[in-house]
Amino acid sequence: MSTPRAALLAWYDANARDLPWRRTRDPYAIWVSEVMLQQTRVDTVIPYYARFLERFPTMHALATASEDDVLAMWSGLGYYRRARLLHQGVAEAVATYGEVPVDADARRSLPGIGAYTAGAIGSIAFDRPEPIVDGNVARVLARVHGVETPLGRRDTTKSLWSLASEWAAGERPGALNQALMELGATVCTPTGARCDRCPIVDSCKVRGEGRVDELPVSAAKKAPTPVSWSAAIVRSPSGRIAFVRGDKKLFGGLWGVPMVEAAIETLRDAALALGLDATIAAEPLGETRHVLSHRILTVTMYGGEVESESEGVRWVVPDALGELGVSTLTKKLLAASTRAKPSNVGTRARKSRAAKP
Ligand code: ADE
Repeated sequence: MSTPRAALLAWYDANARDLPWRRTRDPYAIWVSEVMLQQTRVDTVIPYYARFLERFPTMHALATASEDDVLAMWSGLGYYRRARLLHQGVAEAVATYGEVPVDADARRSLPGIGAYTAGAIGSIAFDRPEPIVDGNVARVLARVHGVETPLGRRDTTKSLWSLASEWAAGERPGALNQALMELGATVCTPTGARCDRCPIVDSCKVRGEGRVDELPVSAAKKAPTPVSWSAAIVRSPSGRIAFVRGDKKLFGGLWGVPMVEAAIETLRDAALALGLDATIAAEPLGETRHVLSHRILTVTMYGGEVESESEGVRWVVPDALGELGVSTLTKKLLAASTRAKPSNVGTRARKSRAAKP
């Protein structure tokens, strides 16, 4: 009789989706794919992966690129810290090792490489018996082995990594790890698990007990906080728009239009602090909702004009936005503002009330 491990590998060989990163053994390409896949769905990642590798086909190409170019290629994928850390990690790997290090400790010491990414590269690119646990693997292992403690807790994490190590040990660890992920993505799904198609159903603890939907126990989640923002779409006489660097934490330092977590008066002060002597309309152009991981933003947009292009902000022709790493929120705001009716009633930003930069 075949072992559960052998049954899972045979199932994977027959059922694995044909995904672009499964056609390569290039550790750099696998690194890129695994970072993209960390918080993003497979379907979304596929075109980004192809474009990214076309633009940066080698580690050296990425290491020598500017951060703006890297962020521009990442624009729309979200969680931009991933992109900056990938860029830094690849640059350090090139400088220190000249390649993606085969040694697991060396890999883990690189910026942006945690246990998951290290294990994914180690097993998939180098076929080393290194474990991985992502959301899909955690669900499969929690069900198969009956892990009853909530996800996210330290003891649960420890148990899951230890179980994953046992699964990874043996032949073809890269295929085995991807099989666990694939099973979680396509069969052992969060709801409506298709146990009739599962190759390891006979050794599944919860299936035997009829409790598939009870595990894993999810981590307690905080509800996102609703917040109100104001944004200014300021145009110069030549039609260029004022851009500033967005907040590093919220927008990964991507470019965006000036905005504040406050009402229009503060927006005017913020514009002045940026050196924008703008006339900002009192009537809003409209409102846009945008969901970040811990906040739900309602952003009120205002149109503005300046008489000349000041320094301290970046003036961008709307058609050239593709070359700049622009946040998804700003893209949404610009799209909504072009649909809105422009308002020409304006109030000048008051210099006496300029906020600190
Ligand atoms: N999610 C994370 N890594 C993956 C991979 N290698 N294949 C499919 N989905 C994934």
